[in-house]
Amino acid sequence: MTQPDLDRSRLPEHVGIIMDGNGRWAGQRGLPRNAGHEHGEIALFDTVEGALEIGLRWLTVYAFSTENWKRPPGEVRFLMNFNRDLLLRRADDLDERQVRVRFIGRRGRPMPRRLVEMMEDTERRTARHGRMTLQIAFNYGGRAELVDAARQLAVEAAEGRLRPDRISAKSLQARLYEPEAPDVDLLVRTSGEQRLSNFLLWEAAYAELVFTETLWPDFDRHTLFAAVAEYQRRARRFGRV
Ligand code: IPE
Ligand code: IPE
Ligand code: MG
Repeated sequence: MTQPDLDRSRLPEHVGIIMDGNGRWAGQRGLPRNAGHEHGEIALFDTVEGALEIGLRWLTVYAFSTENWKRPPGEVRFLMNFNRDLLLRRADDLDERQVRVRFIGRRGRPMPRRLVEMMEDTERRTARHGRMTLQIAFNYGGRAELVDAARQLAVEAAEGRLRPDRISAKSLQARLYEPEAPDVDLLVRTSGEQRLSNFLLWEAAYAELVFTETLWPDFDRHTLFAAVAEYQRRARRFGRV
C-alpha cells in the first residue's frame, strides 16, 4: 500500500492502535518476549513517520494497559525501563518533527517515578507543537479513565460546583485524560486478536475497527496506509440510516 492511493480529504481525524503480538513475534523466532518489545520500537516510529506523511492529526497507541501489571515481574520491569530509555532516545526526534506527545493513563504508584518524570518532560518539551498529537496510552485502562472522570464529577458535585442533574456526556468527556482529543475514527489492532482489551472505551464508541494479522513488530507505515484505505471503504452511519 502506498500513500498516494489514499483520499486525503477523508482521512480519519483520530487513529488508535492496539500494538499487539510482540511476544508471539519473538516466539516465532526463538527469541525472548522482550526482543519482540524491542522490535516494536522500529514499528512504532515507522508508523509515526507514515502518520506524518499522510497528515494524521491524532494518533493514540496502546503501550501498557492497567492489566499488564499482571505479567511476570521481569517483563514488567523490562517494559518500564525500555519505555523510559525509548523516550530518552526518541524525544529529540519527535520534537524535531513537531509532534506533540501526550501520555494518557494513571501516573501514581506503581508507576516508576523516573519514567513519569521522563513522560512529563517529553510532554513539556513538545507541548507547543501542532502538527500531530501522539498519545501514548501507558498504565491506561478505559475503565480506569471513566472511573477517574466519575470521581472528579463526584468531587465537584459534593463541593456544590456541579449539579448532578446537569451531568451530560459533554461534562464527562471534559474530565477524560485528554478532553480535547476527538473521537477515535479508526481503531486498529494487530496480531489477529479481535478485542478492545480496555482501550479507549469512551472515545472509540463509533470507531471503525480494523483487525490485521500482522504482528506489531512487522507493522509499518504501509500497514497503516492499508488500514486507512480499509477505513475509507467503510460506510459510517452513527445510528442514522
Ligand atoms: C503487545 O505485545 C505489547 C504489550 C502488551 C506491552 P504482547 O506482549 O501482548 O505480545 P503477545 O500478544 O503476547 O504476542
Ligand atoms: C493490549 O494487549 C494491551 C496493549 C497492547 C498495551 P494485551 O496483549 O495485553 O491484551 P490481551 O491480554 O490479549 O487482551
Ligand atoms: Mg498481547
